[in-house]
Formats: sequence, C-alpha cells, structure tokens
Amino acid sequence: MSVPDFTDLTLDRAQPLQAQLYRMLVQRICSGRLSTGSKLPSSRRMSASLGVSRNTITQVLEQLKAEGFLTSRSGQGVFVCASLPPHVEAPQRMSWQSDTDHPPQLSTFGESLRNAPLVREKLLPFTPGLPDLDSFPFHLWNRLYRRHQDRTALIGYGPSQGYQPLRQALAEYLRNSRGVRCSAEQIIITNGAQESLSLCAQIILNPGDTVTMENPGYRRARIAFQSAGADLHLAGLKNGSLDVESLTKHNHTAKLLYTTPTHQYPMGGVMPASDRLRLLDWAASSEAWILEDDYDSEFSFVHKPVAALQGMAEDTPVLYMGSFSKTLQPGIRLGYMVVPKSVIQVFNHAKEMLSGHSPLLSQAIVADFIEEGHFVRHLRKMRINYREKWLHFCDLARHKLEPQAQLIASSAGMHLVLATPGRNDLELSKKLAEHRIGSTPLSFFYPGKSLNHGLVLGFANTSKQQREDCIDLLQSFLTNSSS
Ligand SMILES: Cc1ncc(COP(=O)(O)O)c(C=O)c1O
Repeated sequence: MSVPDFTDLTLDRAQPLQAQLYRMLVQRICSGRLSTGSKLPSSRRMSASLGVSRNTITQVLEQLKAEGFLTSRSGQGVFVCASLPPHVEAPQRMSWQSDTDHPPQLSTFGESLRNAPLVREKLLPFTPGLPDLDSFPFHLWNRLYRRHQDRTALIGYGPSQGYQPLRQALAEYLRNSRGVRCSAEQIIITNGAQESLSLCAQIILNPGDTVTMENPGYRRARIAFQSAGADLHLAGLKNGSLDVESLTKHNHTAKLLYTTPTHQYPMGGVMPASDRLRLLDWAASSEAWILEDDYDSEFSFVHKPVAALQGMAEDTPVLYMGSFSKTLQPGIRLGYMVVPKSVIQVFNHAKEMLSGHSPLLSQAIVADFIEEGHFVRHLRKMRINYREKWLHFCDLARHKLEPQAQLIASSAGMHLVLATPGRNDLELSKKLAEHRIGSTPLSFFYPGKSLNHGLVLGFANTSKQQREDCIDLLQSFLTNSSS
C-alpha cells in the first residue's frame, strides 16, 4: 500500500497550523481516505511536503496517538489504528447540515418549541416586568460587593439550599412583610422564579397530571408545566382574580394549582380573603398542591399589599415562590421558595442535583442588603416612584386612548393592561417595537383561544416623556383604521 504524501492538503498560513492539521487528519481517517491500518509518512517527510515544522507535526501525531486514531509500531512507523470501527467511513453521516437531514429526535416538549415565537428584546421601555433600572442603588450595592468580593468561602461550591444568612434574613422579611409562616430552614434560594417553577414541575408532576392555571395567566409557568407533560386546566377569572367559586363548585381536581393571588398576572385582581380560605380548603380536601407566585406583591398602590395565602393557616399545602427580579433587578437571577417542612429535603436534593447552588456572592450581598434595612428602604422609595408613574400613565391612557382602548387592569403592579377590541394585538405590539417600545400582546396570556386582545405595558422603567410619547403613538395607531 502506498504511503500518502499529503501534498494535496492546503493549510491556511494565517490560522494555527497545528489545529488545522489535526482536524484534516481526523477527517481523513473518519472518512476512510486514510484507511485503517495504513501507514503515514514519516514526520520528516510530512514536514517537508507540508512546509510545517517537524515539531508541529510530531505534536499532532502524538495527540492522535493519545486519542486512539494512530498507533506506532517500533521500527516500522506510524499507522492508522487497525481497531477503529469499520463504520467510520462516510463524512456526511457524521453531521447533518440542512433541514432535510434528520437530527436525532427531540422530546414532545422540544418539538413544541420549534415554532414558538422568538423572544423579543427585553430591555425596551414598557417591557412588562422591568423595574426602574436607573434607580437601582449601584453605589450601595458596590459597597456591599467590595465587602464580600475576596471571601474564598463565596467562590467555591456552596449549599444548594442557599446562603444561610440570606435565608435567615429572607425568612424574617417574609414573616414581617408578607405574612408567610416560615423558618429559614424552609427557604430555598433559586435562580429566579423560572427555576422555582421548573423545580416544582419536576418534583410534583408526572406526565398526564392535571395542573390548573389562571386564564389569562403567566406563560412561563404554563411552559414549565407543559415541559413536564402536564395537562393544563384553564380556570377563568372573576373580578380579575381566580374564580375560586366555580372551581370548588364543580368538584374540580388537580395535582397542582398555580395562582397569583396577591396580584393576578396579568389582570392585577386581588383574591378576596373568603376565596383564599376556600381555596386552601379545596387544596386540603382534594390533596392538591397550591403554587403561590407572589411575584410583585410589594407594589400595590391602592391599598396595603394583602398578606400571602401561604400564611393564612398552619401547615398549608402551599409552595410559595418569590423573586428579586422586580424588587431589586432581574439581572441578579435570584428567587426563593418557601416549602412545607415535609418536602424540604426533596426540594434541596432536586436543587442540588439539577442545578446546584445559586451564585453565592450575589446571595451574600442581598443578605446584607436586607439585614441592614436597605431592602425595605429601597422598596419604599420604589413604591413612591412607581405610584407616580402609574397615576401619570393611567391618566394619559384614559384621556387619550378611550374609547378605542380601555384600561381593564389599572392596578396591576408594575404594568397596565389595555383592551384594544377589534385590533390585532400582535400587530400593535410589533408596531410599537419598531418605535422601541416594549409591550406584550394580551393574547399571549391565553393559551387557547384568546378571549381578549390588548396590550400589557410596563411603566416602571419609563420616563415621563417616554410615557407621553408612547400614548401619543398608540393614539395614532388606534385612530388609524389600518392597524
Ligand atoms: C408572574 C411572574 N412571576 C414571576 C416573575 C419573575 O420571574 P423571574 O424571577 O424568573 O425573573 C415574573 C416576571 O416577570 C412574573 O411575571
């Protein structure tokens, strides 16, 4: 068998030669051009024919020997390993390049995401969920950061359940401010609400289990449950919050019920106390879990925030979740769960196995931020800030947009919901985005047939001028019949 001379190999001299030569040889072996058992030229010959230093050639050959592609026989030279599998032949089988090829199968959930709408830019003013980023107390934050930045204890692996001082500070805050019944031991720090939802889905649900959700409701929660193979039951709203009466009257059963009782998302309704108690009763008697998402309860402008459902009775089957995305900033990616004592160990284990601890340095900063009173002061300041923006935005919307658009959720935390009957809300939202205004079409919150068209507009991260411009623009779209 003749020994190849490799004169047909073209190397790009501007790129690292060793890596190129390595890739070319692997490709030739895998494609069968260099057949198993065949002999390679000597390193000296390769060096001469390729114009590459002998040292580089030797390093590539040594690497290929270490990986099992080549072998050397003493006194005879270097050979392609005879034991390579015979199917290492056709290069086109080793990769798939076009849509017509068939990659390995995805899960049903993965397939369902193929045609999902693309995630749009998330930092535009009016994007729902964004807090006022310019009001973030950077100076104070950086001071706390410097306090912890050199601690080796914070740069290794940490407790998956979360940094103990943070759990301690949070337990106290949740007891005092949200009426949650908990000890630090029941708290699990997560990478935001999104991870809390995924953990619950994985720990609680089996494929085919029923999850009841508010309709309209939080899309990411729905997707987390669907990814676990759950069947969704969509429960309607009454006066902007979950219609508990209808649920209990029809003896509905579910493995898990996801709800936003303090501020229904997105409609902003507050679940009345009688419905909360009825819901707890329903959960206990039908052996269902309640997942309470207390996502922006701190920002209530009409009355004092109502206390959490979780704390209304002792030993409720409630999994409580919250997030620092709105109270501090979404970039920090920190959230928390309060779980009943009976499942702490399971949640800890799942958190450990599925993602490990959340960033420790950020947790240490937040712990101090809460403990030293900055958190409560920051919230107080933000409540005043958002209330002012809320009043201004509502006023503009009422005066300039009605009757073409109506405010159907004016007290919904950090966003407003405008109904735009007869308008395609996706088109409206796209047109706003062209003017760098973020919004979410209301129809996105309805998984089935949309019962409403409109826009969800966040106002926390906006200036007075931006709010005025946004409403003027919307007014022009709504009075123009083509939109
Ligand atoms: C209903 C709801 N829950 C929770 C969150 C917080 O999510 P995360 O902590 O993943 O940022 C949001 C954010 O917009 C939300 O709308």
